[in-house]
Amino acid sequence: MSDQLLTLSGLDNGYGASQVLFGMALQVQRGQCVSLLGRNGMGKSTTIKSIMGLLPSWKGEVLWKGQPIHGQPPHRIAKAGIGLTPEGRQIFPNLSVRENLIATAIPRPEKSSPWTLQSVYKLFPRLQERASNFGNQLSGGEQQMLAIGRALMTNPELLILDEATEGLSPLVRQEIWSALALLRTQGMAILVIDKNIRPILALSDYHYIIEKGQVAWSGTSGQLESDPALRTRYLSA
Ligand SMILES: Nc1ncnc2c1ncn2[C@@H]1O[C@H](COP(=O)(O)OP(=O)(O)OP(=O)(O)O)[C@@H](O)[C@H]1O
Ligand SMILES: [Mg+2]
Repeated sequence: MSDQLLTLSGLDNGYGASQVLFGMALQVQRGQCVSLLGRNGMGKSTTIKSIMGLLPSWKGEVLWKGQPIHGQPPHRIAKAGIGLTPEGRQIFPNLSVRENLIATAIPRPEKSSPWTLQSVYKLFPRLQERASNFGNQLSGGEQQMLAIGRALMTNPELLILDEATEGLSPLVRQEIWSALALLRTQGMAILVIDKNIRPILALSDYHYIIEKGQVAWSGTSGQLESDPALRTRYLSA
């Protein structure tokens, strides 16, 4: 069995006539935690939308366990095993917390310990307290936990998080980072986009810095940590 989970190569994509990705490429191995970094508007979310089939690519390949998935609709890609916590959370405002978790769940009875409402509530006890509240009655932090819980209910092999700590208090951010660290120890592969470099360095094994829709640099936490010039040039940190 190959260790390769996700491979992007030569991806071009954009909106209308405006090209945003220029040969974007990256890889995530089984159980690996990878970050996608870069300043505003460089194409991070567009890369994620290309992976998830939300914005079909113009050119290039997205391989999942060696098989092409580009051109497939988002529900097929979720079914294949990629879970997304999207930028802006996008929870259903008129459904309860419980209903939000169930609405897009993908049961996988063949898994040894599939995600359930109980295991999501164990990870985020706040959600259990709020189980019957509607999405639009939640705080930003609770909405974010719900967005992560909802992605976990699809029983993904790879969890993608696009700005999962944006706009949250330091305490709630910490809770999210701790949950991700726990998922990581359980072997979940994670692709994370975030502007907070410290927790990203602690969580991720490998990093890609994207500039104008292509990879400007990639390397390990150690390499990124020891190069302040790199961070000044490509990140605001
Ligand atoms: N729906 C859209 N229609 C047209 N242009 C878009 C759309 N979404 C994004 N763009 C443009 O595409 C470029 C890349 O955007 P993208 O959202 O991928 O950046 P990002 O790296 O995720 O930035 P941020 O850190 O601000 O989230 C930007 O110039 C943005 O204005
Ligand atoms: Mg973005």
